[in-house]
Parts: sequence; structure tokens; C-alpha cells
Amino acid sequence: MSYGANDDVHLRAAELTILADRAASCTQCELAATRTTVVFGAGDPNASLVIVGEGPGKNEDEQGLPFVGRSGALLDTLLAEIGRERNDVYIANVVKCRPPGNRDPRPVEIETCKPYLRQQLVLIDPTVVVTLGNFSSKLLLNTDVGITKLRGQAYPWWGRYLVPTFHPAAALRGSARVLEAMREDFTRIQGILDDTERNMMKTTELPPSIPHQPEKHDPEQLDLF
Ligand code: URA
Repeated sequence: MSYGANDDVHLRAAELTILADRAASCTQCELAATRTTVVFGAGDPNASLVIVGEGPGKNEDEQGLPFVGRSGALLDTLLAEIGRERNDVYIANVVKCRPPGNRDPRPVEIETCKPYLRQQLVLIDPTVVVTLGNFSSKLLLNTDVGITKLRGQAYPWWGRYLVPTFHPAAALRGSARVLEAMREDFTRIQGILDDTERNMMKTTELPPSIPHQPEKHDPEQLDLF
């Protein structure tokens, strides 16, 4: 029996499930005391796009899924505008448990939760990581620079791309300029994904004609396939 790409996908999914199970009973920081559910993350374990928010809000805490409230609806719209839906991507947060009253996550909580996010990114191995808002952008780009200055470009990131953009909640608070900037960033994301998908097609294309089978055993030629 040979090992193929499908096995790889199943392995990733299985390892993510093991990690999610571990997170589900995590008590490593004080958010554990007030959460209803751990919101580990959701989506395609084989996604080429991973979106990282800040932390679960009230709806997410109740349902155990990321971005199910109004911010999530806007995120779905932005994804639809670039021809994708949430099942095509993977969505996670910097902290997996709701900070009470939706306060900002504290540095110690972010630091304690970081290994879960890191492992999610290692396992999913996306082409593009999109960070929504200050917390995920500053964490993954390891900077104190704020999102307004950071956004507007794609950053090379560990052999991948990171595209920081505003958090959908900022657009919902009312500024049309924020939403316009997010649309611009999502178009940038689409461009990178389209380019990589095209390049992958190039490298997996069949040769213009199928080479003749060698008459005799030719180990060098067999190595090519
Ligand atoms: N805001 C976030 O940052 N994450 C969620 O999952 C929901 C709202």
C-alpha cells in the first residue's frame, strides 16, 4: 500500500482533532474559569487560507465555533466576494476562550494560548495567513506596529504570506473606509491564492505528449514518475 496526498489530509485532520481535544479541557489560564466552550477553530484542515481573529465573543463561546456573530457574517461576505466560503478556509483565534465581557485578551493569556495557534498553522500549512485586527497581526508579525499601519501589503512569512487587515468588528462600527480597505486586502489575498494555484497547476501539468515506454528497463527514466 502506498502513501498519498489523501493520507496526508487525513493525518492533518486527525492531528488537529487530537489538539482540539486537548484544548477542550485546557485550564492553563484564567479564561478557563469563565468560558462556556473552548473555541478551537473550524474549517478545512487542508486549507490554503487560514484566517486568525482575536478571541471568541458571546455567540462563539455559546456555540463553540469561531465568527458566528455579526463579524462572522461580514467575514462570510468578504470571502464570498473573492469566490470562497468558510468551508474552504480554516478560521482560528489568538485565544481560544472568551475573555469575560469581551475585554481584550491579556498578554499572559495570549502567550499561554500561543502554542495551540502555532500548532494549528504547522498542521494546516497554509499558503496565506490573514490576520484580523491588532492582536493577531501584532502576534504573528512580532511587532508593536498597529493594524492601520501594517495593513495594505502582503508580508513574506516563514515561506508563506501573511496579509494583515482590519477586524470585521471595526468595519461594523461604521467606517466605510475600513470596509473599503478590507475589500482591497481580500482582493490582494485572492491574487496571491490564484497565483499559487496557477503555479501549482504548472508544476503538475502532464508533458505535451506521453513519453514512449522504454523498451528495456531504464531505471533513470522510471525515476521521473
Ligand atoms: N471576533 C473574533 O476575533 N473571533 C471570533 O471568533 C469572533 C469574533
